[in-house]
Amino acid sequence: MDIAFANAIPEDADTVLVAVEEGRKLFPSAQAFDETAGGAVGRAVRVGRYSGKKGEMLDILAPDGVAAERIVAVGAGDYSAFEPLDRQKLGGDAWAHLNKVGARRVAVPTSSALDVCDFAHGMVLRSYRFDAYRTRIEDEDRPTVEKITIVADDLDGAEDKARRLQHLADGVFLTRNLVSEPANTLYPEEFARRAGALSALGVDVEALGEARMAELGMGALLGVGQGSERESQLVVMRWEGGAGDDPWLAVVGKGVCFDTGGISLKPGAGMEEMKFDMAGAGCVTGLMHVLAARGARANVVGVIGCVENMPSHRAQRPGDVVTTMSGQTIEVVNTDAEGRLVLADALHYTVETFKPKQVVDLATLTGAIVVALGSYRAGVFSNDDDLASALRAAGEETGEELWRMPLGERYDKDIASDIADMKNVGKAREAGSTAGAVLLRRFVGDTPWAHLDIAGTAWTKSDEPLAPKGATGFGVRLLDRFVADNWEA
Ligand code: BES
Ligand code: MN
Ligand code: ZN
Repeated sequence: MDIAFANAIPEDADTVLVAVEEGRKLFPSAQAFDETAGGAVGRAVRVGRYSGKKGEMLDILAPDGVAAERIVAVGAGDYSAFEPLDRQKLGGDAWAHLNKVGARRVAVPTSSALDVCDFAHGMVLRSYRFDAYRTRIEDEDRPTVEKITIVADDLDGAEDKARRLQHLADGVFLTRNLVSEPANTLYPEEFARRAGALSALGVDVEALGEARMAELGMGALLGVGQGSERESQLVVMRWEGGAGDDPWLAVVGKGVCFDTGGISLKPGAGMEEMKFDMAGAGCVTGLMHVLAARGARANVVGVIGCVENMPSHRAQRPGDVVTTMSGQTIEVVNTDAEGRLVLADALHYTVETFKPKQVVDLATLTGAIVVALGSYRAGVFSNDDDLASALRAAGEETGEELWRMPLGERYDKDIASDIADMKNVGKAREAGSTAGAVLLRRFVGDTPWAHLDIAGTAWTKSDEPLAPKGATGFGVRLLDRFVADNWEA
């Protein structure tokens, strides 16, 4: 879907989109357009129940004299209270409606092209489809909307803003593509190849294979991948947009390309969902795309641990003890608690190599976080209050919301092992998400760190304003905002 700009409604537009505030009040631009439409919009919004409530849509057959076929009046509710995110969500809802009616080329007259950029960004985010494996061209669900033209007298700054938002959407789409991809096509080496494509944007990408990781002593990460035919990979993506001596921000992702549970095998029902267990790594990769594409003025390193958790004659067993790169040992009581094993080595490698000022990890780590927070918020665990609040603020701004969850001494004691430094599970059915987080904490030293458990938010089973059902790309917009507000300001 293309976004274009013009000073007048293009002749080939089939739909004109206008906005109405609660109380049937046409926006100034809608009012101006209505004068060319002989008052048809004003009449239409007055004859029925339509009041302009937020998200309320009205289709109006275009009268003679208007070149387009239809006018769609989008209800904005109380527009004075709108933030950019509200405009984005309204755009997402409008996009869904425009497709329902079969609009193709949509013109949006406005007195603020900058505001409508947010609206159009929401449309773009909602328009995502994963079409890689659809071969039937007669697909009735195929979206119709091809082009949105923002029509205003004053287009100052709008193209720049639209470009910035397009880079963001591209990164979100990259993440969604990676997360949607099935595990037979997206295995660790293929993931590394896809990440390698970021070098075209100036990201320095390096992949460490199993031999190199063995030299480094990454027994925990390698233990998880040991049962798979596919070679595990640790991928390091460096974007040096800051000054040479600026510190690093590190972003680390869980990249379990498929999680069967291993020998502690998961039940069959719903197991296909576990292709999305690399969503943390997918987010890191999409974020690196955004930062590089928009030329973020910060030094950011993305590190992803990519493995496949499979049962086999070579798989690790429950009870195995692995030695991590940090030297600490972990008793693997449950091979299905594998994400923390991957991250233990990925986090240690990252803090050791880059000495980052802050490190944020993202992982679909626990089913327990879904029980606690559902799919509306991700959990944030942190050893640093400032970092946690900065992330939460970025979450509120972008609608990728977080909720602080606890760490602490007593939880930490729950992962004590009888034969190793720690075990990879806590108490059965108690504080399961924190049990994962306290293990991760042991691998970051004193570095300010935050762990985002995105198990409930990385995938949606129903359409949302800014994401159709499927992979959401959760975390990309949040972390892009976090970098802009805290590292580039
Ligand atoms: N990838 C799963 C967590 C998960 C569950 C993500 C549901 C998304 C939806 C993780 O590797 C896992 O299996 N965690 C276990 C940990 C347990 C064995 C301590 C879990 O949550 O059950
Ligand atoms: Mn698991
Ligand atoms: Zn997992």
